[in-house]
Amino acid sequence: MNSWLSLAVLCCAVLCQSVAVGAAPRLAGAGFTGEDFSGVAPAPIQLSTQCPPSFELVGQQCKLVNLYQQYDSLQNKGVGGTKTALPAARDGFSPQQIDLGRFLFFDPLLSANKQQACASCHQPDKGFADGKAVSTGAFGQQGKRSAPTLWNVGFLQKLFWDGRSPSLEQQAAGPLFAPDEMANTPEKLLHDLNANAVYPRLFAEAFANKGPIELPQIVTALAAFQSSLISLNSRYDHYAHGFHQALNETEIKGMNVFRSFVARCAECHTPPLFTNQQIAVIGTPEPEGKPFDVGAGTTEETAKLRGGFKVPTLRNVALTAPYMHSGRFATLEEAAEFYSKGRGHAVPKGEKLLLHWHIWEPKLSAEENQQIAAFLQTLTDQSLTPQLPKQLPSGLPLPAEVRPQQAAEQASQQTQQQTTAWTPTSSTTAWTPTSSQTTEAPLRGHPLQATQSAKAATWTPTQNNTISQSAELAKNGEHK
Ligand code: HEC
Ligand code: HEC
Repeated sequence: MNSWLSLAVLCCAVLCQSVAVGAAPRLAGAGFTGEDFSGVAPAPIQLSTQCPPSFELVGQQCKLVNLYQQYDSLQNKGVGGTKTALPAARDGFSPQQIDLGRFLFFDPLLSANKQQACASCHQPDKGFADGKAVSTGAFGQQGKRSAPTLWNVGFLQKLFWDGRSPSLEQQAAGPLFAPDEMANTPEKLLHDLNANAVYPRLFAEAFANKGPIELPQIVTALAAFQSSLISLNSRYDHYAHGFHQALNETEIKGMNVFRSFVARCAECHTPPLFTNQQIAVIGTPEPEGKPFDVGAGTTEETAKLRGGFKVPTLRNVALTAPYMHSGRFATLEEAAEFYSKGRGHAVPKGEKLLLHWHIWEPKLSAEENQQIAAFLQTLTDQSLTPQLPKQLPSGLPLPAEVRPQQAAEQASQQTQQQTTAWTPTSSTTAWTPTSSQTTEAPLRGHPLQATQSAKAATWTPTQNNTISQSAELAKNGEHK
């Protein structure tokens, strides 16, 4: 009945659209966006044959290359130690799988109403979060929790705030098919992709398959792309690797408070990822009027974890306000203050939570919390932000939240500052507001588009460090 009807309507919409796509891909989306398509047929979409920066092509696989790999394991290095190894990463995907994942990630074809993509809630400009306390689904429904960043998500062993998913592949099925998110069904998703004029060729290239597109390939490509979102070249990292001028006095004070056994932040937010990947019960409050969220404590066996959430990474945390699973805190200072307001101060009456032993009463001063916030700002690094696809295989426009026009308006002021602060001699000065690079200018670094690949191919840790060090040092004053 109702669902059959809507399925039929959507199938028709997709078939009609794929016919249009076959004829003139970019015109298919023109009605939605009002973009000025010149009518010139664009070149067919090709998948990149190069790995993103920070990955090296070994055989057919992209392997992570990072300075932290030269350090020993976490053991014996002290909890807040700077020269500590990274946990194992998900790598080994092919360049084509990663690039296909990028197209899928930004493509609203994956949602029931063709309007929401993964990128709608995980926006590159917002630290791959969405700036909201709780996310909004494809049909406008309010979600239950806040969208986490996806930076460095390839290192995580547990996904979601309550850690309920063990892999990126399994996780992806969550948003795709959740009624309050993209609201799709496996049947319709597979139908839409297989009926599309471009995707079957791209999947055949990425997975060397001759048959139809299958669900495991979709989630593998999404996992491949998400694992390429590496952010480990912040000012903090320059400091950690030995360039001590990278942080100013306030930031170093903040770092020392953060690592101290009084504050204990680093016991859970352990460098270099700034998470120990465990579930911890810390007793954060829900927004006014919202029911208590049991987090990981959903069953009798997990009762000890009632109110427990995964320790989130603090990488790029300055970009992902509001904070905590509930988006309860608007600023980093507020989030830091929470820990000094008394153990269990926000636990609702009648709830008996087993608060983690590192949740104590550090009684940090306002100044110390500000120093911590200043330090957390030094964890910002978006240098490997992937480029927005200029064109989607589905022929649909990019989802509204990341569409160049809107993003350009919002970011124009910031963009101007960022591009000049980056380095006047770099290729970013070639950016002009009228080109299609408008939003791609601040999204620098990822090689998956031809324009960036020359730069990416010559990327080395030391070179990149030098560029960003000088630029970031110039900005030091802003972080006081
Ligand atoms: C409607 C907004 C929305 C959409 C669309 C969406 N997400 Fe999310 N995403 C969220 C929220 C909210 C969470 C946290 C949910 C929870 O923990 O219960 C999340 C969590 C995640 C996580 C776990 C991160 C972590 O640190 O644990 C990953 C990975 C992820 N999303 C990837 C994706 C992918 C891939 C897609 C597209 C297939 C997608 N998301 C679509 C809102 C969204
Ligand atoms: C016992 C482990 C633990 C300790 C110690 C700890 N945290 Fe956390 N932190 C967490 C958990 C768990 C969350 C998520 C809680 C939630 O969503 O309700 C979190 C969330 C945060 C967030 C929000 C991140 C986001 O993306 O929303 C910030 C900021 C933060 N902590 C900073 C600190 C600081 C600063 C300290 C030291 C004063 C500290 N933490 C100490 C476990 C810890």
